[in-house]
Amino acid sequence: MDWTQRILVTRTLAMPADTNPRGDIFGGWIVSLMDISVAAMSSRFARGLTATRAIRQVLFDRPIFVGDEISVYVKLENVGHTSMTFEVDVTVQRSGLEEELPAVRGTFIMVALDKNRRPRRVNCCELPHHQGETKGRC
Ligand SMILES: CC(C)(COP(=O)(O)OP(=O)(O)OC[C@H]1O[C@@H](n2cnc3c(N)ncnc32)[C@H](O)[C@@H]1OP(=O)(O)O)[C@@H](O)C(=O)NCCC(=O)NCCS
Repeated sequence: MDWTQRILVTRTLAMPADTNPRGDIFGGWIVSLMDISVAAMSSRFARGLTATRAIRQVLFDRPIFVGDEISVYVKLENVGHTSMTFEVDVTVQRSGLEEELPAVRGTFIMVALDKNRRPRRVNCCELPHHQGETKGRC
């Protein structure tokens, strides 16, 4: 896997069950999709259990409607001692439109955990050399 690239992790359809009482798509559901997508990628990168430590500045740039196709893209931005920083962006594709429109973005800080659920060092040295664009300690 090329960790320097933005990777499509989740693609799904916004359904009526995902709406708030006004009938718009619920922002908390979108953040949950983002968190699940990042968790899948962080545990793969860290080769083990990870936890969400912080979510920074989630921006909702465009409303999402029932029937929109939602794509969640994840990019590894930085690797620390025990933490990994991921940029996440969500796009929507409206029925009848070809173009994917940017809708939501945010930054997620994940921490690698040991078997006692304490932070453990991420072995970023396993990254191939060509992935040196990843900032931090690699
Ligand atoms: C994740 C957890 C084990 C971390 O343990 P901790 O002893 O508090 O360790 P810290 O958070 O101080 O440090 C761990 C890393 O997170 C980083 N970190 C902590 N808070 C941060 C923040 N607000 N922004 C960016 N990085 C942060 C630290 O810099 C450190 O990174 P580094 O090792 O790469 O330098 C613990 O806080 C925990 O269990 N939290 C609950 C996690 C959870 O349940 N998440 C699901 C959401 S409900």
